[in-house]
Amino acid sequence: MRNSARSLAPLTGGYLSLLAGVTLCFPGSLGAQAIVAGERGETVRAGGGMVVSEHPEASRAGAEVLAEGGNAVDAAISTGFALAVTHPSAGNIGGGGFMVIRFPDGTTTALDFREKAPVAAHPEMWLEEGEYSATRHHFSHWAVGVPGTVAGFERAARLYGSREWSRLVEPAVTLAQEGFQLTEGLAASLASVIRRYEEYPATVAAFSRSGTPYEAGETLRQPDLARTLARIRDRGAEDFYRGETARLIAAEMERGGGLITLADLARYQARERSPVTVDYRNHRVISMAPPSSGGVAIATMLNILEGFDVGSMEHNSPEYLHLLAEAMRRAFRDRAEYLADPDFVDVPVHALTSAGHAAALRSTINLERASDSSPLDVVEPAESLETTHYSVVDASGMAVSVTYTLEAGYGSGIVVPGAGFLLNNEMGDFNAGPGLTDDRGLIGTDPNLARPEQRMLSSMSPSIVERDGRLLAVVGSPGGRTIINTVLQLILNLTDFGMDLPTAVAAPRIHHQWLPDRIVMEEEGADSELVAALEALGHDVRVRGRQGLAHSILVDSATGELVGQPDVRNPDSGAAGVR
Ligand code: GLY
Repeated sequence: MRNSARSLAPLTGGYLSLLAGVTLCFPGSLGAQAIVAGERGETVRAGGGMVVSEHPEASRAGAEVLAEGGNAVDAAISTGFALAVTHPSAGNIGGGGFMVIRFPDGTTTALDFREKAPVAAHPEMWLEEGEYSATRHHFSHWAVGVPGTVAGFERAARLYGSREWSRLVEPAVTLAQEGFQLTEGLAASLASVIRRYEEYPATVAAFSRSGTPYEAGETLRQPDLARTLARIRDRGAEDFYRGETARLIAAEMERGGGLITLADLARYQARERSPVTVDYRNHRVISMAPPSSGGVAIATMLNILEGFDVGSMEHNSPEYLHLLAEAMRRAFRDRAEYLADPDFVDVPVHALTSAGHAAALRSTINLERASDSSPLDVVEPAESLETTHYSVVDASGMAVSVTYTLEAGYGSGIVVPGAGFLLNNEMGDFNAGPGLTDDRGLIGTDPNLARPEQRMLSSMSPSIVERDGRLLAVVGSPGGRTIINTVLQLILNLTDFGMDLPTAVAAPRIHHQWLPDRIVMEEEGADSELVAALEALGHDVRVRGRQGLAHSILVDSATGELVGQPDVRNPDSGAAGVR
């Protein structure tokens, strides 16, 4: 396992220089190659690399880097910056996230660029005159965590990238400067944002024409964002954390009564972490470690399920969904009790992902009857369904899985004046306050309380799947806590059910998170007979629109080709491959 942190290499060619002497097959050495871009939502097949993301232009930005000989980390950085322009509700430089990497030799690592609480944070910061304030917690300048994305991308580039930093940021600068065409969906979304955030003039200015909403088909140009990205291109993370951009962030914090100072920005560091790995039948899943809860929960659930003959069950039958829900219930119970930032809390990752723990949990499952989610003394708060995931594989087989977020759609709604980008509201992922657990959904357990410089607990689960030791798939999703269950079901579809990628991604999903004690089913898969059968087993079942956007890549074992599959739940998303 390539789990140890590396010393910083120069800003260019870090990965190549560290691996001098190792044979790498980079297509760029053979000259630029053709990009195969799918129509929106289409499956793309290609042999020389693949990027699948929420926006076709962002996928193309990454694929072009691959075609020039960049590796999957380079492409992931380019795509991430481009999404900050073309997918403003969740793509970001003002938020944070995780990057899981599998190298061609099978070693793995992960970058943690989750936001942090500012130094002035404290566990009772969400109380106003003794009363919990949801507005302060989720929609205020106090809700903004110290952003991590730029530091994370720069660290990834230094450690494992192979191309000039400026080349990786440039496509985003161009997209912001020259603009891109708005789809109907994005135009409608921006129109609602400018209504919602009237109190922030820089937000209205960034996403409308002087307050008038854009129409579909018009071009969105973001000149302030272009200038910020150009500074990042030229000066790297130094600008964002210690330069002009840092000053603009700190000025907005001061103006709005926020807590983040220049010192908080200067102290931010992305971390390299060992991913969580779990072996499941002849597969291995590599996923994100704490401060994400995703990898641990997925490992717990797969370990539980390994004791059942899942493959012999009918997919999405009452028997299968009951078993899934019971595994989910138990993993989410652990999540509420144990998971938090490992730099502050001793998280028992080894114990929670052990076969013994799974056996103990498995023995409490009744295949004929839903369990109770008691005790009712720990209830999890609501969490945003936003965030975005993208997947990258290069010609050498290096795989990168990235999920990053502003927390809510458009985060805090606060665009930094003069800098043109949105700040997150990630502090909402901390618990409400000591002892504040109640039946409205607040939680007051200790590990995930806001503390100076702590990272808030996340559900983001960027993951990579191996079969028989070889790369099989890159997966992940947005969706708050549903992320964990979306990724689990995608993995089961590919492993136990042997589905092809388009079928596995499209298959209807369910969610159970221990509390509230209910199965939430996607509309598409919720026929009345199935719902009645689950209710007969003792489940409360709710049906809602859709769950997740799992933009994924599979290696076709027959042909060796890469299959890129945007999640058709968003018809605007897109894959781009390299021939
Ligand atoms: N804010 C969503 C997550 O981190 O899981």
